[in-house]
Amino acid sequence: MVGDLSDVRAMEQDFPSTRNESGYQRFRLGDFVFSRDEYFVHIEWRAQGKKLSHTMSADVFLRALMRDVAWNFFYGWVNFDDVFGTRNRYDRVELYAGRYHPVYKEQGLDHSACFDSSFVMQAFRSMLDDWTNVGYDPFAAPAETGLTWQGKKQGHNRAALNRARESCRRMPGLPGDVPLRTDRNRYPINRAFLDVPQDEPVIEAEPGFEHEVHAFNLFAYLSRSDVTWNPSVTSVCKHSLFCPTTEEYILPVKHANDRIEWFLQLSDQIEWRIEDRATGRPRASVVMRAGDVAAMPADIRHQGFSRRRSMLLVWENADPRLPQLYEDGILPPSLAGEFQEPGSVK
Ligand SMILES: [Fe+2]
Repeated sequence: MVGDLSDVRAMEQDFPSTRNESGYQRFRLGDFVFSRDEYFVHIEWRAQGKKLSHTMSADVFLRALMRDVAWNFFYGWVNFDDVFGTRNRYDRVELYAGRYHPVYKEQGLDHSACFDSSFVMQAFRSMLDDWTNVGYDPFAAPAETGLTWQGKKQGHNRAALNRARESCRRMPGLPGDVPLRTDRNRYPINRAFLDVPQDEPVIEAEPGFEHEVHAFNLFAYLSRSDVTWNPSVTSVCKHSLFCPTTEEYILPVKHANDRIEWFLQLSDQIEWRIEDRATGRPRASVVMRAGDVAAMPADIRHQGFSRRRSMLLVWENADPRLPQLYEDGILPPSLAGEFQEPGSVK
């Protein structure tokens, strides 16, 4: 099914008649209907002639929605919880309810539909804009934002929602690339990282190589991150992307990879809950302390818990061939396929 943009626009043009008694707009994407009230988001769909409804806390939903939008649907699956989520099919996005929940699935009460990515992005942006109240930042740690996610609709927080994801072309600080976070008013050192040295490395390049050698203090850069669970891209080498991030509280989604993803714990500690990608059945708990390295295979979903703000380096392989290679079983889920042609993998 290809989404019709008029679905969203019609709702907006009907304003304010489509607002409910809590003041929030209702959104429809195909057979999915989304609404929110003072505390909850409700997702409705139809299966086997029945109307089904799933309820989530509005702050949990908004934090997940914020990542899905900022990450452009990311790699693979972004589970908002055990029932609802999105699957990136690259140019198209699948919305699902219950499809990867064994009870809904077994009873045929699940529903999924594919839409053009641009349609879902527009709808999700409109939803975020309307459902995020003034004073609430879905990117912030709970201790660093207000409680205005609850209650009747009041205002907007567009400055928080419209942050651009910091994604370099090669490396931050290079001429023409994203700047280092040196503006201390825009990027103050986070309260958890006040002891992180802020000095930058001294680069002594051989004559003639001054413009080819670059380095920066990654710990200082991360200490000035104002968001949580939102990787920025800090080095690009072909398909190899280093995506460091700072984490606090709970990863708002259960991300399920369509490729292998590496974690390097740079500071403090994160506990990972690892589940089967299709069923959510528990597979492992991984406790990562500073210096630990782990590879998440391509058939799991994972959610992290960070008691205090920590630094994590996520290493992604952006090779666009990978999802199909894993889907077709050419690559087993625990084998990275970097730099190998499909035919060379046994
Ligand atoms: Fe992930």
